[in-house]
Amino acid sequence: MGDKALTYARIIATGSALPERVVTNADLEKIVDTSDEWIRSRTGIRERRIAADGETTGDLGYRAAIAALEAADVKASEIDLIILGTTTPDIIFPSTACLIQHRLGANGCAAFDINAACSGFVYALGVADKFIRSGQSKKVLVIGAETLTRMVDWNERETCVLFGDGAGAVVLEASEEPGILATCLHADGGFKELLYNPVGVSAGFTDEPNHGVRIHMSGREVFKVAVKTLDSLVGETLAAAGMEESEVDWLIPHQANLRIIEATAKRLKMSMERVIVTVDRHANTSSGSVPLALDEAVRSGRVKRGQNLLLEAFGGGFTWASALLKY
Ligand code: COA
Repeated sequence: MGDKALTYARIIATGSALPERVVTNADLEKIVDTSDEWIRSRTGIRERRIAADGETTGDLGYRAAIAALEAADVKASEIDLIILGTTTPDIIFPSTACLIQHRLGANGCAAFDINAACSGFVYALGVADKFIRSGQSKKVLVIGAETLTRMVDWNERETCVLFGDGAGAVVLEASEEPGILATCLHADGGFKELLYNPVGVSAGFTDEPNHGVRIHMSGREVFKVAVKTLDSLVGETLAAAGMEESEVDWLIPHQANLRIIEATAKRLKMSMERVIVTVDRHANTSSGSVPLALDEAVRSGRVKRGQNLLLEAFGGGFTWASALLKY
């Protein structure tokens, strides 16, 4: 009789892209009342990349996608689905996934954006996993790309020191070898007021600078909920994959704040040597952060085939999401 083999979504390659311009904490000391010491001790951030004038989310996402496709040795025409996690699309529509699709020459395949704030890439990975497992898609490009600094109020020291721009991408393939083992996606819109951008096409814009486009954040409250939520998310994800903490080789967390990352590592009883950290150089790149960290870990040779990776993210909504996978 023979059971039909399970189909897994397997990451066959990764890619990433960063803007050229580096902005250090010392640079920010010149524009707001802050200090390198404050930023480093509270967040772990030393510097961030900022997109050039005219450089868009789509540009960064496209470059990350090309890098992933080249590493995978896959032609864009072989891709049958593109999902982009982003909160900072180039234009209102078409989706930035469609803009990237056209530049890649993958015209015809399904393409759409997911807005789950900083959890966007992990949400996109969860959705792509379902498309592959159902047999609907065979090769999927999943991208996380952001130019979040376009929303930053450079007069507000509470937020402007935290964010950066960047993108990462993975090529997923249907495979009988594992693969993504479990994904957990959650949201609680009741927390909207703690982290949000209050304007938009339908709600309208304001006469404030940048038309009212600005990140509103209650940092201390976000911090507390993030730590608690990620703690339970990690337990849920391990249980969903039937895995123990000790079997996880690498934690690849959302890069918002080193102290939040350390709390999650402690929950997993992992030393920081097994945690991929890029927040010091990239700051919080929202949906870009997890795939950027993953790509860096793969290209530096730290993450190896057959290892178990735990990816997790937390962001505005609130949203939170994870993926446990065998690389
Ligand atoms: N430089 C210097 N001082 C600053 C500052 C800055 N950039 N930003 C805030 N401060 C001041 C505050 O005004 C406050 O001053 P006060 O005590 O006189 O009122 C003081 O520093 C302490 O602020 P507090 O909020 O207690 O600091 P904190 O230890 O909680 O760190 C964050 C602040 C924002 C770094 C931290 O709460 C955080 O990372 N939260 C999560 C944010 C996040 O990750 N958001 C995205 C989620 S995806």
